[in-house]
Amino acid sequence: MKIFIPVLLAAILSPLAQAKACKLSLSGTDQMQYSTKELKVAKDCDEISVTLKHAGKLAKNIMGHNFVLVKTADVSGVSGEALKVGAEKDYIPKDARILAHTKLLAGGQSDTVKFKKTILTAGGDYTYFCTFPGHVGLMQGKFIVE
Ligand code: CO
Repeated sequence: MKIFIPVLLAAILSPLAQAKACKLSLSGTDQMQYSTKELKVAKDCDEISVTLKHAGKLAKNIMGHNFVLVKTADVSGVSGEALKVGAEKDYIPKDARILAHTKLLAGGQSDTVKFKKTILTAGGDYTYFCTFPGHVGLMQGKFIVE
């Protein structure tokens, strides 16, 4: 048994060791902009992490930023739901159309969201945007899955 346990453990852990983690990052500014209009996930990624940093100084209730990932077709619907739940819920509705999201951030803060690539379809049409009122127009970008 002393021999088998390490062998078994290695067999169980090896797929995990091979899972490739891909780290993406972007920032938001006090000028209501994301630092990038496009994020790309490579083919061989298994685990995706997205870090949003609010590089500005303004308060959350004035210039809050988040990262909310949806199918592009759902941007308008989810944006509407976000306004309904309001500041109390940080403009993050409980909505199955939201695939991943960070917290709503004030200047100087950052947050990371992690998810598996299996929730996305290669070549699918995805968009990330900020659900803070009035931000979706300027703060959105394409999330490309190779
Ligand atoms: Co924002």
